[in-house]
Amino acid sequence: MQYAIVFSSQTGNTAKLAQRIQRILPPEKLIYYGAPAAEAVQADLLFVGSWTDKGTCSPEITEFLKGLENKRVYLFGTAGFGGSSAYFSQIGNRMAQNLPSGNILLGYYLCQGKMPPSVRTRYEAMAQTDPQKAKPMLENFDRALSHPNEADLDALEKAVFDMLGKA
Ligand SMILES: Cc1cc2nc3c(=O)[nH]c(=O)nc-3n(C[C@H](O)[C@H](O)[C@H](O)COP(=O)(O)O)c2cc1C
Repeated sequence: MQYAIVFSSQTGNTAKLAQRIQRILPPEKLIYYGAPAAEAVQADLLFVGSWTDKGTCSPEITEFLKGLENKRVYLFGTAGFGGSSAYFSQIGNRMAQNLPSGNILLGYYLCQGKMPPSVRTRYEAMAQTDPQKAKPMLENFDRALSHPNEADLDALEKAVFDMLGKA
């Protein structure tokens, strides 16, 4: 089955997931790799990925998902806040809600992704006035710095192979 890998990534985290998916699947069946584009819609199977923007996927991925018809779709993404599978499920489900009926959701995989230094500067400023609120934010920021790591990418690889085994 021909497939496409479509993603939006501002700082490269989600692109790492896209690259891993590309690396493990047959290159001769890949018909499109990159930002949302009409060309990608020729594939029956689409891997669609996004960074997390205010609790859901980016606006261009939202729009892309809303335009899909009768496709098999696997979602992937990264989020600055991590460590909780419930949080990742919430984002995966929000992304999936953009898919019109008639498409088949094959599953999703999300992991944590590092945030830009400007975010830490904001938390540091917050720590001056509200240290209690800032502390967990700073801790999460520092934890995110190493993600997505090899273990995240290996888990994605396993999730994709498991999905293809069932699909
Ligand atoms: C404007 C903006 C909004 C964000 N909103 C969220 C959010 O609601 N939840 C979250 O977990 N991460 C949020 N993040 C963090 C990014 O989703 C995260 O760092 C992601 O890994 C970036 O992926 P990319 O490198 O592929 O762009 C936000 C980042 C930016 C710049």
